[in-house]
Amino acid sequence: MTIRTILKMGDPRLLQVSEPVTQFDTPALHALLQDLRDTMQAANGAGIAAPQIGVNQQVVIFGSGKVNPRYPQYEPIPPTVLINPTITVLDDTEEEGWEGCLSVPGMRGVVPRPRRVRYQGFDELGRVIDRQAEGFHARVVQHECDHLWGKLYPMRVRDFTRFGYIDVLFPDVKD
Ligand code: NI
Repeated sequence: MTIRTILKMGDPRLLQVSEPVTQFDTPALHALLQDLRDTMQAANGAGIAAPQIGVNQQVVIFGSGKVNPRYPQYEPIPPTVLINPTITVLDDTEEEGWEGCLSVPGMRGVVPRPRRVRYQGFDELGRVIDRQAEGFHARVVQHECDHLWGKLYPMRVRDFTRFGYIDVLFPDVKD
């Protein structure tokens, strides 16, 4: 069990484009995924991307199969390992939703994103993943994959009247 330090916005490593994984089912990949799970669980994250712990590889995990205590209003997302992902927008109608990020602690912002996407990639054993998602699930996938392209959600905020500190925006919510 290793809880890794989560890099915070301002660290240039969060702005890099990550490298594709070339070998699956390796001890190093399994160890990375265990660290990601431990770190995400300890922080109650909805997801986490390898660059957030300083690993420049196209690996994200998201979902727990349970309602997330940081986002109690949303439906559970199945626990997913997604490697070398691609996202295809199926419905570019934008939906607005509040987002937070473990690399931007204490803050929330409204981010417009396409409402329905297809995501493809591989799991840790190299098995193909090909799913469609909408709502919170689609939002989380897009947010996590953004980390692999060096994008943090504040870069996608358009209305800065709805971006700020949680204790100010939502005085009754703990982060
Ligand atoms: Ni994030």
